[in-house]
Amino acid sequence: MAAGPLCIYELLIGNEKYIVTGRQLRTGAALASEEHGSLKSVRVRPASNVLGSVAFPGDKSISHRYGMLAALAAGTSRFRNFSTGADCASTLACMEALGAKITRQTDGAIEIEGTAGHLHAPSQALDCGNSGSTMRMLSGILAAQSFESELTGDASLSRRPMRRVVDPLQQMGAQIETTDGHAPLRVRGSALRALDYVTPVPSAQVKSSVLFAGAFAEGDTSVDESVRTRDHGEIALKAFGAHVERRGNRVTVHGGAKFSAIEALVPGDISSAAFFLCAAALFPKSNLVIDSVLLNPTRAAILDVLASMGGKPKFLQVQEQHGELIGTIGMDPAGLTGLRISGALTASLIDELPVLAAIGPYTRYGIEIRDAKELRVKESDRIAVVCSNLRAMGAEVEEFDDGLRVKGSQRLHGAEIDSHDDHRIAMAFAVAALRAEGETTINGAECVAISYPEFFETLEKVTER
Ligand code: S3P
Repeated sequence: MAAGPLCIYELLIGNEKYIVTGRQLRTGAALASEEHGSLKSVRVRPASNVLGSVAFPGDKSISHRYGMLAALAAGTSRFRNFSTGADCASTLACMEALGAKITRQTDGAIEIEGTAGHLHAPSQALDCGNSGSTMRMLSGILAAQSFESELTGDASLSRRPMRRVVDPLQQMGAQIETTDGHAPLRVRGSALRALDYVTPVPSAQVKSSVLFAGAFAEGDTSVDESVRTRDHGEIALKAFGAHVERRGNRVTVHGGAKFSAIEALVPGDISSAAFFLCAAALFPKSNLVIDSVLLNPTRAAILDVLASMGGKPKFLQVQEQHGELIGTIGMDPAGLTGLRISGALTASLIDELPVLAAIGPYTRYGIEIRDAKELRVKESDRIAVVCSNLRAMGAEVEEFDDGLRVKGSQRLHGAEIDSHDDHRIAMAFAVAALRAEGETTINGAECVAISYPEFFETLEKVTER
């Protein structure tokens, strides 16, 4: 394990420098609510290796959906390894405000006593924080309730497009007001009509939102997508008792669903694991094992692309739970060749694109990403921000309207990185920093708490210098 100094990073708060250990790192909603927005910097020094065995907190996408459906279910659901990220804490807080009773058990599990379909009107606006998933998917549920509600978000979420969910929900009969297509959203719920919907942009959040609304509608609601996006919404609906069918890229939910509580282990978040898989792939002597991680084929494309570039992921064990695949995987070192990512592959790697671009300079031929306009409307404009941060580290990179091209076989130097308050940018450049010459400072590093508060602590554990 990590040789040399105890910590790989330091926090700079004002002029004060803190050496951070895992024990000092605050996690979850507490960090998000009390400290998110205060400027903090983390220094990352170059590494020589990534070694060890890691398990990740529960997948963010699945945790959101389980949290929402458990609140609608009859009975008490119990989730082990629920996401520790602030985004899922936002979902839980909203579901609590709508009537669910949520407790964290001494063993870390979360119990949600559902409302058996009887959410109550919230006494104030529902704060979705930084979480697009919370706002978009919860809108689908609220569209079918017999009360009015308001959904708000932070500055970044208030810039993100909401018409993509508002349009289909309005077609189902909901009344939703936006501020020029953005949050806050005011939702006046009502009895909904079923809908046959073709998503104009591939989006699992939109698909889940429409299907969640459809579960309450009269008749069968279908969503057709040109490119298959993550399918946790439909899998979770089924697990909680809804009737769901899939034909190719068309998925249908029967209206009038009744949900029953479930007990589940939330699989480790593969989008968090992706940072570590990419980090391991950078060093010839790495040896990383990842336990109980999500291996749903609509999410595991990162393993395929690392393999296609010469990386060597190994599957050590795989099992299924409530329709989701979970397994233990290993990653052996390899010199990565490079790749052009476009079309359906872009959609299935949407959250992994920043880290793939950030390691692009260390591949032999580079990485090109196209058909990725959606990256411009994530927590930050991820195309522009990845390009500017790569340039700050000395990389040659070309920016396109729908993507970027990073030249291969480049040497980067340590630099000041601006996270733009985007968790995946902070983590992607912490990984790039491991192979740079000299130290890198990640400014605004506290935003990792949005999806993975323990990120720097885990990076410390598996990094050798
Ligand atoms: C998510 C879908 C994706 C992804 C986000 C989580 C989900 O967003 O980027 O992090 O849980 O459905 P889009 O649906 O906007 O592509």
